[in-house]
This record gives sequence, structure tokens and C-alpha cells, in this order.
Amino acid sequence: MILLGVNIDHCATVRQARYRSYDQTAPGPVEPDPVALAVLAERAGADGITIHLREDRRHIQEHDVWRLKDVATTRINLEMACTPAMIDFALRVKPHSVCVVPESREEISTEGGLDVVARRSQVKACVDAMNDAGIVTSLFIDAEPAQIDLSAELGAPWIELHTGAWANAWHTPRRAVEFARLRDGAFRAHAAGLIVNAGHGINYDNVADIRTLPHVHELNIGHTIVSRALATGIEEAVREMKKRMNA
Ligand code: PXP
Repeated sequence: MILLGVNIDHCATVRQARYRSYDQTAPGPVEPDPVALAVLAERAGADGITIHLREDRRHIQEHDVWRLKDVATTRINLEMACTPAMIDFALRVKPHSVCVVPESREEISTEGGLDVVARRSQVKACVDAMNDAGIVTSLFIDAEPAQIDLSAELGAPWIELHTGAWANAWHTPRRAVEFARLRDGAFRAHAAGLIVNAGHGINYDNVADIRTLPHVHELNIGHTIVSRALATGIEEAVREMKKRMNA
């Protein structure tokens, strides 16, 4: 059974489009509320909620994380950059897991995996701090042997394979190549003792392929679920994704 982490960032993106300058913790017209969406997603069967507190706070705000912490009944997976400020924040919030992602201010969403090899010492500091605090670290990486091997060597218990390149290649001949890369990476990571998650660009159609990846523990999915929720409501959107993930 593959688990589903629902990423609620895009709900916050819609809120920020209108209410960026409001005090969003005070009663008033501020909508939509990503935390309320998360509660409904959990009710419909989400196994965890993923939120990305970006350095520029373009969607999720710190108060969202604290409010989610108060009401979540499943697991919180905090996506974050590998910086001292974010490590400090995670140690205060104590989510179930952190997913360490690369971050650059220009990108609309996360593009490309974390370069664990190039950022070895920072990633190690983060993994050590989380291990000491009992927080699971997941490293969001491309399915490259060097990245996978070093993730295991640094003591991260989980990785999340970046499925974006494969999703982008869906209508091209590269799709099979990218899928083979993910499959090989999943085998390699599992053999190295890592728990294997996957995410980015997964949707209601391509999930039929991604669920055949070996050893996948959890999928983190955002855009397609929030998009479908506009028409069907979040509960139906979550239920349908869970059905397709484990058909
Ligand atoms: N996993 C990670 C690490 C991400 O950064 C994102 C995008 O925020 C996702 C999963 C979800 O991607 P999508 O919104 O394309 O489903």
C-alpha cells in the first residue's frame, strides 16, 4: 500500500494572491485556508500533509505551520531549504519529517533535486540535527547513484525521488529513459537501506506508472489534487488519488 502525502502549498498560493498584506491570523475574509483544506484532506484519507515554508514566504506562512501542528491528526512533512534558519525553525516545530529541497527565488515550484554531493557539509549538519531531535529527514534528490549513495552515507533515513523530469517527458520518447532512471534509483536506494518516496509532477494519469516503481513508500502530490479539488472538493480529489495509487 503506497501512502499519500498531500501538498497544500497551492491553496496558500491562491490565498496570497489576494490577502498577502492582511493579518491572516485574525478573523476576517481571508480565504482559502490551507490548514482547513489539510483537515479535510486528512478526513478523506491523506496519510500526511506536506507544506513548504519557502525562504521568500510566497505561499505557506509560519503561522500556517504552527496552526497545522495544532490540528493535524496525521504526519506533517515540512519541506525546507538546507539553511541554519530553517533547521532552527524545524527544531522548534518538530514535524514528523523534513524534506530538504533546493530553493532558488526565481523558480515557481521546486525544479531539480537537491545536490547532496555539492552541499555535503550543510546537508550533513541538517541530517545530524534532525536525527538528534527525532525528526525524520528526507532528501529530495534526482535518481542519480552518487546522490543516492551519499544520502545513505550521511544517515538520512528517507529520500524522495524527484519525478519532475519524468513527468515533463510524459509526451516524449524520453519518458521511458526517465522512468528507467527512477526505477534503478529506487532499487539502489532500497538496497542502501533508504525508505523511498517520490514526488513532483505526479497527476491522476501518470500515477498509473509511478505506482509501479519498486519499493515506493509514499507519494507527495500537490498541484493535481488542489486543481481537481476546485471542481470536486478536496475530499473527493484525495479519495480518487488514493484509489488510483493503489488500484
Ligand atoms: N515533493 C516536493 C519535494 C516538492 O517540492 C513538490 C512541489 O512543491 C512536490 C512534491 C509536489 O509537486 P506537485 O505539486 O507537482 O505535485
